[in-house]
Amino acid sequence: MMKLAKESSNFGRRWCRGMVTASGSAKGQHAPNKLSVSADHWSESWEVDDLYAKSQEHVMATWGPGSYIRGAPILSHGEGCHLWDVHGNKYLDWTCQAICTNLGYSVPPAVLEAAYKQMKKLPMAYGGLGNTEIRVRLASLLSELLPGDINGFLFPSGGSEANEAAIRLARRYTGRSKIINHYRSYHGGSSAALTATGDFRRGFAEAAAPAPGFVKTMNPNDSYLFSFGSTDEERTAKSLGYLEEQIKCEGPNTIAAIMLESLVGSGGVLKAPKGYMEGVRALCDKYGIVLICDEVMVGFGRTGKFWGFQHYDIIPDIVTSAKGLTGAYMPLSMVAVRSHIKDYFEVNPVGWGATFQAHPVACAVGYECVKFMLEKDLVRHAKEVIEPIMQKHIDRFAEKYDSVARGRVVGAFGCLDLVDPRTGAPVQNFDGSDCSKPEAITIFRAALKENGLYGFVRPPMFHCAPALVIQPEEPWICLT
Ligand SMILES: Cc1ncc(COP(=O)(O)O)c(C=O)c1O
Repeated sequence: MMKLAKESSNFGRRWCRGMVTASGSAKGQHAPNKLSVSADHWSESWEVDDLYAKSQEHVMATWGPGSYIRGAPILSHGEGCHLWDVHGNKYLDWTCQAICTNLGYSVPPAVLEAAYKQMKKLPMAYGGLGNTEIRVRLASLLSELLPGDINGFLFPSGGSEANEAAIRLARRYTGRSKIINHYRSYHGGSSAALTATGDFRRGFAEAAAPAPGFVKTMNPNDSYLFSFGSTDEERTAKSLGYLEEQIKCEGPNTIAAIMLESLVGSGGVLKAPKGYMEGVRALCDKYGIVLICDEVMVGFGRTGKFWGFQHYDIIPDIVTSAKGLTGAYMPLSMVAVRSHIKDYFEVNPVGWGATFQAHPVACAVGYECVKFMLEKDLVRHAKEVIEPIMQKHIDRFAEKYDSVARGRVVGAFGCLDLVDPRTGAPVQNFDGSDCSKPEAITIFRAALKENGLYGFVRPPMFHCAPALVIQPEEPWICLT
């Protein structure tokens, strides 16, 4: 087994030595000092076996049980679009981790420098007390990149937090409580955002104490069992008719917002049929409802347009985004609002805040990442270079394999629908239940790893989302 470092071969013994001090075990000491903990925390690197052992003892997984990440690679470093694990295995990051490391792993020098300079100059400013130059500059840059009068900004730390804030703003602005969301959607892991979510993860919120005031509607896209029609026009007309009926049944003046992913991301890279989003915008206008576009995954160029909602002829009232804003190098998200909402909150309390809101180092990183994207023309690259290559390969897979029903690509965001060739049905339900052949998924996951692809597999879909900086000459497709 490869060693990260030779120097700590007495790791276990020294660990124990560190744990026991003159006053007994360090664990839980009220005033621990350096001698209270293992000396290994001061060694530059640990042996691979020790990393795995300590991971087993202390590291918890998210969403799934801990055992789920026991076999996962422990990553050591990255470069370009590639990652390496502590055994020295190299992977092409096939889904930008969680569709977030859009700029890859070679951090642009200007971003590194901006983070360093901001750390030296002013490493933290609590956004509720004061303002910073970098916050103003980032807000001003984003206002130039967003259309219409979207010009007010909050900067929470992640996508869920941005959606929580957006929901709060919509409720306070309208004085209404209900939020309408799609079934095929994900809006985040915090309480309200997870109840807003439509996919299987919502169950974790519902099984505990779901946040009140969320109503689900059906996406306009076809699913395995159901379709609103055979053409885009029909799907749009029927799903909008359904939605309006639903608004009336709920009571229009109880509905604060319709909050949708501009393009459904983890639920399968689904663009709304022509006219649907425009129709939703019109219903929002008709009934005084706030339209929130969740662009946490698709914002910042992923789909070959800077914003996902630019695939339609709409201007949302609130846009949330995160991930690509900083290339995921720093936790930072965005809530952008139109001027009527900003004006309202000039004289009414926003009623939302967080210690790390507009963290200056995160803002500095975001500012430089966005400028890097613009300088390198990455949105055009996603549309004109990445999309055709992905389309070609995805079409080839759908043609070649009975287990791939179809695939689609929007910019640098692709998805394959996996079916059981014996039945033609999705290999697993969208709620995560009833995988028709779990061994096949296990084999598929292992094959990806063995072929040097790193990324998530979420049956019945397989996402493809390389970094926006990927170049045509790189060996993209390791599976044939
Ligand atoms: C559309 C969408 N909204 C919200 C979130 C939640 O973001 P975060 O994980 O940063 O809280 C995600 C995460 O994948 C997402 O895809």
